[in-house]
Amino acid sequence: MNIKRNILLNPGPATTSDEVKHAMLMPDICPREEEFCLLMESVKQDLPKIVNGGADYTSTLFAASGTGGIESAITSAVPCNGRLLVIDNGAYGARMAQIAKRYAIYHVVYKIPYGDYPDVTDIEKIVIDEKITTVSIVDHETTTGMRNPVQEVCEIAHRHGSEIIVDCMSSFAGLPIDLRKWGAEYIISSSNKCIEGMAGLSFVIFQKSLLEKIKGTARSFYFDLYAQYQGFQHAGQMQFTPPVQVIYALRKAIDLLFAETYQGRINRYKENYSTLKDETQKLGFQFLLKDEYQSGILLYFTRHNLVSCVPVQKVGNSMTSTSLNYHNIYH
Ligand SMILES: Cc1ncc(COP(=O)(O)O)c(C=O)c1O
Repeated sequence: MNIKRNILLNPGPATTSDEVKHAMLMPDICPREEEFCLLMESVKQDLPKIVNGGADYTSTLFAASGTGGIESAITSAVPCNGRLLVIDNGAYGARMAQIAKRYAIYHVVYKIPYGDYPDVTDIEKIVIDEKITTVSIVDHETTTGMRNPVQEVCEIAHRHGSEIIVDCMSSFAGLPIDLRKWGAEYIISSSNKCIEGMAGLSFVIFQKSLLEKIKGTARSFYFDLYAQYQGFQHAGQMQFTPPVQVIYALRKAIDLLFAETYQGRINRYKENYSTLKDETQKLGFQFLLKDEYQSGILLYFTRHNLVSCVPVQKVGNSMTSTSLNYHNIYH
């Protein structure tokens, strides 16, 4: 069956391949069946491998969009008397602060304008002065296309005995991530961005050694990371109904990523990015960020007071732009 191929230019859900779409057409299955539990287990085990997480990392899936995974990490990982630092230089940094606020978790926000690069010296000072227990940062701030200094912030956090939560929503499987280098305690992503699966699953990859520490800290019932993990351990299942077809699609998407290789995918995105950047430059657009801060997988360009955002994870060469009013993005 041929499925019409639309090239989506929004930052996700991303365009998916026919293989991923077809993977969802499976006979109905009770998600409590062993066959399905094994499928979920294989996905859970492969996710940390993608980002070089060794045997000390594990992962847990939630039926949710990416925000669910962030909510799970923040509400489970910050200790009851903990102090969270949120680094906010875009809408997704701001969202982490909103989550903390909603759950009345003590937090400090290092807030700088959209498109500004975080100053790690300032961050270190806040970590020390505010006795921060947990730092949260967005790896690739999708609202600007900036790659934040996660490696340095991980080093700062660890130097001062803090843990770190990294939102890798739009970088996982699209930009180089090495958990052995970062040593990040928690990273989060979803099924529908650079991994090129369907929307509906969020996952948290975290260090196994933290499990005992987060037992009982969750402020949320549904997004209790510890309880969800235990559900998988004891019954091989999610606590609540899983999005069955989306999991089949994610399994296929992971297989396709392994076949393409992580580096192969990065190269493909880089190539698309260069084409997009060259062509938009020729048309007279200006870019929001300086070259050294561009992630290289998503581009913001401006002209006549318009900002357009085009991600480049899409396979193929057809690229047009979607234009958004500047104020809709920033205010
Ligand atoms: C960096 C980042 N964090 C969080 C999210 C939120 O994910 P979702 O819309 O799937 O809840 C997104 C979505 O684009 C994102 O790019």
